[in-house]
Amino acid sequence: MKIDIVSVFPEYFDVMKLSLLGKAQAKGLLEVSAHNLRDWTHDVHHSVDDTPVGGGAGMVMKPEVWSECLDQLLGLDTSAGADEPSISQGPIVIFPNPSAPLFTQADASELSGAQQLIFGCGRYEGYDARIPDYYRAQGVDVREYSIGDYVLNGGEVAVAVMLEAITRLLPGFMGNPESIVEESYTGSEPLLEYRQYTRPTSWRGLDVPAILTSGDHGKVDRFRRDEALERTSQLRPDLVERLDCSQLDKHDRAK
Ligand code: ADE
Repeated sequence: MKIDIVSVFPEYFDVMKLSLLGKAQAKGLLEVSAHNLRDWTHDVHHSVDDTPVGGGAGMVMKPEVWSECLDQLLGLDTSAGADEPSISQGPIVIFPNPSAPLFTQADASELSGAQQLIFGCGRYEGYDARIPDYYRAQGVDVREYSIGDYVLNGGEVAVAVMLEAITRLLPGFMGNPESIVEESYTGSEPLLEYRQYTRPTSWRGLDVPAILTSGDHGKVDRFRRDEALERTSQLRPDLVERLDCSQLDKHDRAK
């Protein structure tokens, strides 16, 4: 998978060389390039923003700078005399935005199948709304996602979050692929994960639930599933509403 990230703080993504993401790049599973949006400016101040049309606080990122950048990364030919701009391949462009639909595990899973992702990090009061409109009209798959109901200073942290959620699903990324199978939100059932324990089974007066040491795998599975259902209904009732009831057995329904 090829990943391009555009930001006015590309150094922010130096951390992508660390940990499992770094290993995945070394293994050739993915290639991450961070670009400085200011490289596509032409004025002495390398300005990327301007005041909002209609008034209001803050600054808005200019469409011309983003379009020069995205045309190049997308391989769109907009030179004079060229026919309609055409997309050489099918990269997906993603803009983090606090006023967009929530990014979910299902999105991460879908995007992990893409060949190329281009992330655009907004700053200040955001980016000119015509940027995603324009590229959608050119046939580009442009997504806007929020990572949660809070406002960050810019899109960089949101991109780091989405990137990690997406890339860890790439085949070969995780040392043990089993570890993503039973995680919260994975698969068709968006359940919170059951609680985990390790040794010692008794610690500071607190014991691991006895059933987990019983060696009875059927009972352990049932215990964990009950706990997942119970925790989800207590902590995230919104997820319970999304459960496919036809997939529940009679023990599940009792919960
Ligand atoms: N930019 C600022 N806040 C954000 C959020 N919550 N999600 C995505 N992008 C953002």
